[in-house]
Amino acid sequence: MTALTLAPGLVYHPGYLDRAAQHGLLAAVREVMRAAPLFTPRMPRTGRPFSVRMTNCGALGWVSDEGGYRYQPTHPDTGAPWPAMPALLVDAWNALARYPHPPEACLVNLYAAGARMGLHQDRDEEDFAAPVVSLSLGDTALFRYGGAERRAPTRSIKLASGDAIVFGGPARLIFHGIDRLLPHSSDLLQEGGRINLTLRRVTCPKKA
Ligand code: SIN
Ligand code: FE2
Repeated sequence: MTALTLAPGLVYHPGYLDRAAQHGLLAAVREVMRAAPLFTPRMPRTGRPFSVRMTNCGALGWVSDEGGYRYQPTHPDTGAPWPAMPALLVDAWNALARYPHPPEACLVNLYAAGARMGLHQDRDEEDFAAPVVSLSLGDTALFRYGGAERRAPTRSIKLASGDAIVFGGPARLIFHGIDRLLPHSSDLLQEGGRINLTLRRVTCPKKA
């Protein structure tokens, strides 16, 4: 599948996962959700709940609550370590990230009908040399992206089931978010909605 460079460092891979690969990844993600149940993150300060529910896999997971945004090695509700990152996700990172160290965190976002995500930067990582690799399953979403400053103009593209998008290099700190889902645009998830997976490197690799 051809990759499209949407902006320097922002590379879109439409149809990166075929239908069989989407089913395989979905099964692995369901397994992750069994071990690490979805939680509802809350905004720092206000405690307002996000409209998406989340979980994570890998050594570290991203969480948000009144204590702030952060990565931590354990689930905020169960206190258990996050489940290991499925091999399929490591494969996707190896194929797409062009970065010589493995991902440490995979944030799983579950969008039910009506869920969205406001414009934000992914900047809680120590290492911005590594890209963020995003994979989408289920209903198509309207993904909005801009520049490294909030006031920069934005554009949107549709992310469909199986699409991958990588933001690295000059695009690593772009503002991005999800305006809305296109309901019933995919039948991959029986319950409808969308799952987005973002693979991240959190810490700076130790110098050899
Ligand atoms: C995110 O920015 O964490 C999620 C983006 C998406 O759902 O595509
Ligand atoms: Fe993000």
